[in-house]
Amino acid sequence: MTTDNRLPPIAPGRRPLIGHALQLLRGRLAFLQQLRAHGPIVRIALGPKSVTVINSPELIHQMLTVQSSHFTKGLLFEKLKLFGKDALPVADGPRHLTRRRLMQPAFHRERVTGYVRTMRDTAASAIDAWSEGGELDLKTEMQLMVQNVVMAAAFSATPAPHTAHAILTSVDTLFKAALRRALLPVPLLDRLPTVHNRRLARASSTLHQVVAGIITDHRTRPADYDDVVSMLLDARDETGTPLPDDEILSEVTGLLAAGSETVAVVLAWLFHELGRHPDLEARLHTEVDTVLAGQELTADHLPRLMFTRALVQETLRLYSPGWLVTRQATDTVRLGDFTLPAGTDVLWSPYTLHRDPGLHPDPLRFDPDRWLPDRPQPPKNAFIPFGAGKRQCIGDAFAWTEMTIITALIASRWRLRPAPGIRPVPVGAITVHPSILRMRTEARQGGTAREAA
Ligand code: HEM
Repeated sequence: MTTDNRLPPIAPGRRPLIGHALQLLRGRLAFLQQLRAHGPIVRIALGPKSVTVINSPELIHQMLTVQSSHFTKGLLFEKLKLFGKDALPVADGPRHLTRRRLMQPAFHRERVTGYVRTMRDTAASAIDAWSEGGELDLKTEMQLMVQNVVMAAAFSATPAPHTAHAILTSVDTLFKAALRRALLPVPLLDRLPTVHNRRLARASSTLHQVVAGIITDHRTRPADYDDVVSMLLDARDETGTPLPDDEILSEVTGLLAAGSETVAVVLAWLFHELGRHPDLEARLHTEVDTVLAGQELTADHLPRLMFTRALVQETLRLYSPGWLVTRQATDTVRLGDFTLPAGTDVLWSPYTLHRDPGLHPDPLRFDPDRWLPDRPQPPKNAFIPFGAGKRQCIGDAFAWTEMTIITALIASRWRLRPAPGIRPVPVGAITVHPSILRMRTEARQGGTAREAA
């Protein structure tokens, strides 16, 4: 392999002043996908900034693992501090390490098993309320369901429907602002009293009020709770000092944001694909009916829901929620044949990685059987929906469990049929979401709806 001190090449198609920013602001996934043709590393221009896009799975893995100490979280996460400045997903350096150690136990596999009952009951109450022949806006439906599951399992909170909607709208407003500010940074605009900024201030205040209420409730009746919020309240640093209130608020808000939208879009895409593939849907129904056999779903059923898991895995591949993951080099870093000077903004995309025909044969085909052990598996590091290394998603086991439960619960009771004339296409916002997704409910004949709790 040759090594020199070249900077990565600049991709064609940049426009005066804004560079390639419009392509990303409009959620143009095809633009990001075609960048893979330019080799393992390529640069794009976002306004005056140049951003280095890493395409090769080996180099992405190197950056996230052995070279991770040379990178901070970068552009997007800097702007995601709107949710709370030192929350786990955006913290860097020693603060990240101590906070990660503190929070890790709440997301251990065994601990997640303890959330199964709450996840099931919270999701089931939404699913049981659907009516025959009703039309669902499936993305919103999933967002509300998943948000309620995270709040119930991690914070023991059950918001009233109007509060749940207010939280959803607020999180969405903050996400949109963070993405806009990351892709076309004009710092002066962030400080002016524009309509966007006023809306953002209101959303931030709504979210903080809700989370502050949850924390106050835990403080008032500590004996009633044993969850992620109690763990944060009980935490002490090496001098015995508890976490400051604003930091607890940031962590809880950060988890709510990181844990809701991601899972919701995966589930929305999964049911979209089942709506197009009645054969796969029938196999799911057979598995769920056989494994649950009319009983309430418990943690013991989960390892036997193997096809359900393969469906989730294939959806995580084809519709990976993350499409823009950023980093910034803290010092000069050598990556492959290139040298990235200190301060280089870097970007990688699980979404485009998982659709690379060189790594995943026939990549646009939704084929859960590709994960069967007798089929050739993708190369190492070519499937990383949860990232890798010390910043790998802390909620991966939580997410797998939740997605398996919700898929099985819906399948045990309903078929979701595509509403006529609706053609969802993937749009890159903070996650990759369907442009529109309306589906009709059809009660399953002979399905094994769960026994009453
Ligand atoms: C399908 C579901 C999910 C996907 C695809 C996903 C994806 C990711 C990815 C790619 C990262 C790493 C970002 C980076 O390297 O910069 C991450 C980090 C994180 N995720 Fe998730 N996530 C999911 C669900 C969840 C859930 C359910 C929670 C919590 C309840 C959660 C909490 C977090 C947190 C706190 C971090 C930051 C970890 C750290 O920096 O130490 N995520 N997630």
